[in-house]
Amino acid sequence: MSETHFGFDAVDEQAKAGRVRGVFDSVARKYDVMNDLMSLGLHRAWKAYAVAVARIRAGDRVLDVAGGTGDLARAFASRVGAGGLVVLSDINESMLRQGRDRLLDDGLIVPLLLCDAEMLPFAGATFDLVSVAFGLRNMTHKEKALAEMARVLKPGGRLLVLEFSKVAAPFSKAYDWYSFNVLPRIGRWVAGDAASYRYLAESIRVHPDQETLKSMMKTAGFGHVDVHNLSAGVVALHVGIKC
Ligand SMILES: C[S@@+](CC[C@H](N)C(=O)[O-])C[C@H]1O[C@@H](n2cnc3c(N)ncnc32)[C@H](O)[C@@H]1O
Repeated sequence: MSETHFGFDAVDEQAKAGRVRGVFDSVARKYDVMNDLMSLGLHRAWKAYAVAVARIRAGDRVLDVAGGTGDLARAFASRVGAGGLVVLSDINESMLRQGRDRLLDDGLIVPLLLCDAEMLPFAGATFDLVSVAFGLRNMTHKEKALAEMARVLKPGGRLLVLEFSKVAAPFSKAYDWYSFNVLPRIGRWVAGDAASYRYLAESIRVHPDQETLKSMMKTAGFGHVDVHNLSAGVVALHVGIKC
């Protein structure tokens, strides 16, 4: 049996997805308010930047992987127009339910799909754009998920990976202090769950850094990959072109 990371714990590969499911089942109802509190609203700017870089055109077909409560899907849906398509997918039913309700409240009907990013139920070359925001970190076999995202993209299609990354050295001590002392406390007060937010901080530390993820994307079939550091590398947007 192979082992993988669940935060700082080494766990059996078979166990990771279940532990991740437990985290998102626990936080789903408070997920959006926690995002605003923890990032002081910055997650909105990171996502807005990703949407701007996506340069969606009317008629595009877009798949948002690990889309959770649907922030990116909502932004894409208003850009693809009546002739386009946005699919919001996630492995977690509690997160997708929150996403569905929020989209309906905004008057948007977006197809939802409960699926594992490591086995996408689409034919090859289906989408113009695939996005994954703050989701890749939680996947057991990241190479497999990236290869799946490459497979379902049309040639010339783009993958956007928005994810926590390696912060610039001058900020790392303050960032560690915030992550390991403040985040779990906010998690306990607001969501009644410190452990899930400790997992968040730990999972960021064991996630591939900017250069490593870039080379993983190249191996997965993205001939060209650009990296955009945001907030001094707290987050990075990787943009891969399938070619
Ligand atoms: C931190 S949330 C991000 C949600 C949303 N993309 C956003 O940016 O707000 C991570 C999401 O990844 C999903 N996820 C984790 N592993 C997954 C997998 N193997 N396949 C699909 N989704 C997965 C979780 O269920 C969760 O909804």
